[in-house]
Amino acid sequence: MKKTKGRLILSIETSCDETAMALVRCSGTLKSPKFEVLKNIVSSQIAIHRPFGGVVPNLAKREHLKNLPKIFKQLLGSKAKSEMAKVDYVAVTVGPGLEPALWTGINFAQELKKKYGSVVIGANHMEGHLYSGLLPTGKKIKTAGNSKVQFPAIALVVSGGHTMLLHMTALNKWTKLGETLDDAAGEAFDKVARILGLPYPGGPEIQKTAAKGNPEAVKFPRPMLNKKNYEFSFSGLKTSVLYFLRDNPSFNKADIAASFQRASIDVLTKKTIRAAEEFNVKTVLLCGGVSANKPLQESLRTETGKRKIKFLVPDFEYNTDNAAMIAVAGFMSILSRKKKLLMEAQGNLTI
Ligand code: KG4
Ligand code: ZN
Repeated sequence: MKKTKGRLILSIETSCDETAMALVRCSGTLKSPKFEVLKNIVSSQIAIHRPFGGVVPNLAKREHLKNLPKIFKQLLGSKAKSEMAKVDYVAVTVGPGLEPALWTGINFAQELKKKYGSVVIGANHMEGHLYSGLLPTGKKIKTAGNSKVQFPAIALVVSGGHTMLLHMTALNKWTKLGETLDDAAGEAFDKVARILGLPYPGGPEIQKTAAKGNPEAVKFPRPMLNKKNYEFSFSGLKTSVLYFLRDNPSFNKADIAASFQRASIDVLTKKTIRAAEEFNVKTVLLCGGVSANKPLQESLRTETGKRKIKFLVPDFEYNTDNAAMIAVAGFMSILSRKKKLLMEAQGNLTI
């Protein structure tokens, strides 16, 4: 396989409520890519959306427009021109996500093209999550790459907008085994948090509250667990929490949070392990915002450990939305010579 010399990628991510930019040195081959994260800046808009209990697309757009030039300056300092001369590609998320938010990143990238002659490439946000496990983990290791993943592998991608299981036979070859039929796992965490009166985003709040509760307190349903497929459904579980609280208004909230979290983790773990066994895989990858959930990580670590399957989860800074993973997605699409993505917001882009 042809060896690619190092490429410096400046990446931009604005698909939801984080404005993020990164500088990543990418090298190696499709079989063995390597990544060194030089800078990874995330500016969170949580405080702005919190009063509304969720992300407001037009507010997100306004904040991205405000943040992008600031982060760009933070990333490159005062010598933007000479620094941009060293950048080989600008990778920008074109989807999936909120279209008004996506456009801000795309337009910013196009301005960089006009101003500095940069080569701009589109990246798929979900491929970013999928490849986030290739980024270096631990403070001491600066570069990492595909030597970490052994194939075949199963990837559980769990974010605010998606929940899916992929069967991978190579870094650029996968089939979707199944996905959620309704709410995504992260969406369920956010909605249940709201039901319990916890602030947005719900995932980390549920985890924190659940740590003080008893996960056996309420036996919530495990949707789709006994179906012999790899589809998920979280909307019924959320409704069960809603009805349970309606019927038991003074029940301990921490117990409800813990029981809901346990039910979600049970389904995610059992379906992932079932797929891992069916396809006799060597690695299980966990990625997407919900991969920040420590009890979920523990559950998958334990179950894969019992079966001598390697378990990979990105470091905390790469679990939720970030731009380092977008540089990786961009680089991987260059290496796989994938058809170029259109430079326009594609809210429903699939993986
Ligand atoms: O990947 P991400 O940052 O954005 C999307 O692409 O959607 O994922 C955000 C989702 C939110 O629903 C958030 O509540 C959830 O990830 N999340 C968590 C945790 N941290 C973030 N869910 C459960 N436990 C967490 N610790
Ligand atoms: Zn995401």
